[in-house]
Amino acid sequence: MRAGTSMGGARPKATVEDADALWLAKFPHRDDKWNNTRVEHAMLLLARKCGLSCVDSRMTTVGEKDVLLVKRFDRHKIDAGYLRSRMVSALTLLNADDGPDTRQKWSYLLLADELRRTASGTQAKELPELFRRMCFNSLVSNTDDHPRNHAVVAKDQAWSLSPAYDLTPNPMIAVERRDLAMTVGAFGRYANRANLLSQSGRFLLSLQEAASIVDGMTEIVSDSWHATCRQAGVSERDCELIRSAFVYEGFAYDLGNPDIHTVDAEELPSARRR
Ligand SMILES: Nc1ncnc2c1ncn2[C@@H]1O[C@H](COP(=O)(O)OP(=O)(O)O)[C@@H](O)[C@H]1O
Ligand SMILES: [Mg+2]
Repeated sequence: MRAGTSMGGARPKATVEDADALWLAKFPHRDDKWNNTRVEHAMLLLARKCGLSCVDSRMTTVGEKDVLLVKRFDRHKIDAGYLRSRMVSALTLLNADDGPDTRQKWSYLLLADELRRTASGTQAKELPELFRRMCFNSLVSNTDDHPRNHAVVAKDQAWSLSPAYDLTPNPMIAVERRDLAMTVGAFGRYANRANLLSQSGRFLLSLQEAASIVDGMTEIVSDSWHATCRQAGVSERDCELIRSAFVYEGFAYDLGNPDIHTVDAEELPSARRR
C-alpha cells in the first residue's frame, strides 16, 4: 500500500510481485463512474477475442476493492532477479511530446512508418497488429489512445510492438463522429471504417485484407462486448453505462472515396447527416 516508483499514467497504480512475475496493480479511483478496473480487464479480454496481442491481466481484491493486475512486459524473472527489457513509448518514437505543438505527429500512420524502421524483420506481423489496435480503439471508442499508450520493447536485440494495454471505452454523446487521439487515415482522427481503410497499405495490408479485419472485428465487438463484460464481472448497471461506447453509429458512415478526400480532419465538414 506504500507509494513506490511511479509508472506514470493517469490512474493510481503500484508494481507488485507474485511467485514468478512483476505485475502492475491498477486501483479504482473515488471519482470512477463505473467499475473501471473490471471494465479495463473486460476490454483486454475482448481485444484478445479480436485477435490483438494484449497484456496478461487478472482481477484481485484489496480491502474489498477490485484491483486490476497487468503483467509487466518489460521485466522477466531470471535466477538473479529480473531482467529488464528496453522500452520506448510511441511518444518518443514519433519524436513528439504532450503539448499541442507536436500534435500533428500523433499518428498511427507515422507510427507504422517508425515500426517499419525499428521492428526489423517482424514488420509483416507488427503492422497488421497496429492496424488491429487502431480498429479496436475505434470500435470501443477508446479515445484515450494517445502515444504514451503504445510502446515498443526489446528483450534482446530486436524491437517489437509491446502487448496492448490501457484499453478503456469512452461512452460519448456524439453518435456521428468520434475522434481517436491519433490520426487514423485520410480523414484524420475520425473513428470510422472508411477512414481506417483509407491508408491500409501503410500497414502492409491490401484493402481487401484490411476490410476483412475491420468487418470481422466489428462483428466480434457487436456480438460479444456485453457477454465479455459480464464474464469479467462487470455489473449489468455498468454495462448500460458503457453500452454507447461500442460500435457507435458514425463508425459505419460512408465517407466516399478516401483517395480523393485527402484533407485534414479539422477541415472536414461533419460526416453525412441523417
Ligand atoms: N504491463 C505493463 N508492463 C510494463 N509497462 C506498462 C504496462 N502497462 C502499462 N505500462 C506503462 O505504465 C504506464 C501507465 O500505465 P497505464 O496502463 O497506461 O495507466 P493509466 O491508465 O494510468 O494511463 C504506461 O504508459 C506504460 O508506459
Ligand atoms: Mg495510460
